[in-house]
Amino acid sequence: MRNIVIVTTCLLTTPALGQGKSFTLDAPEVLVENGFLKHLLPRFSLKTGIRITVEAAPADAAFGAEGTPVFQEDDRVWHFSKTDGPHTDAFFEWLTSDVGKRTIAGFKVDGLALYDPDVRIDAAVVATETDGDAALGEDISLTVCGRCHVVSDKNRMNAIGSSPSFALLRSFPDWLERFETFYVLKPHAAFTQVNDVTEPFPDHLPSPIAPIEVTLEQIDAIAAYVNSIKPADLGAPLTSN
Ligand code: HEC
Repeated sequence: MRNIVIVTTCLLTTPALGQGKSFTLDAPEVLVENGFLKHLLPRFSLKTGIRITVEAAPADAAFGAEGTPVFQEDDRVWHFSKTDGPHTDAFFEWLTSDVGKRTIAGFKVDGLALYDPDVRIDAAVVATETDGDAALGEDISLTVCGRCHVVSDKNRMNAIGSSPSFALLRSFPDWLERFETFYVLKPHAAFTQVNDVTEPFPDHLPSPIAPIEVTLEQIDAIAAYVNSIKPADLGAPLTSN
């Protein structure tokens, strides 16, 4: 009988019992210093019983420049990234829920709300990851695509007016997908060959104009270049200089 009592006591005092529901979070100093995390984290823990320890990377989750946009301060967008797991998932869900958003919006410095949980994703602010060589991409764009498209100011006078400018294309949210697949999109398929990807033009349908030939690496470079250009301001006349 005595033995059983001792075993029970041990179990209850084993620290491991209380440690299950927790994860580590890496966050830039400023979020700690301005008191935001002190405002945010305890409110989440109270609701869920999940404890968050702020720790430098590598951590289970992070606030920073990568991941899903979760709140915004003027033009600066804060992102959240995480490893998979029930506790980090729960935090992400909470952050993006109405309650989480109200909690973010409720944080004030000197009486003023600092972070806006309704992130306005603006093509000009969100940089996309591309791994091509942007300088090479500009050269290829000018020589190969510049026959029709305004690529930059350098060929503004030589392009064909009916082709959208690269700056205009860059302003579309799915610009990257369009550039990665441009050779199957109209009108390019009829005159474009991508090494090792496209079939040769059929004999009875030769390219109607001087054909374009590019490699996949060159398309990557073009995408990297397009990523670096300023999207056209759709509110302004497209023909303005
Ligand atoms: C012979 C002229 C010509 C050349 C050369 C050309 N394009 Fe185009 N491109 C066009 C035209 C015209 C359109 C508009 C098609 C439309 O609106 O349906 C277009 C549209 C596009 C689009 C948008 C397609 C869509 O459906 O969203 C992309 C992306 C694009 N071009 C990329 C390129 C790239 C990259 C190159 C060079 C490697 C290139 N183009 C070369 C004429 C050309």
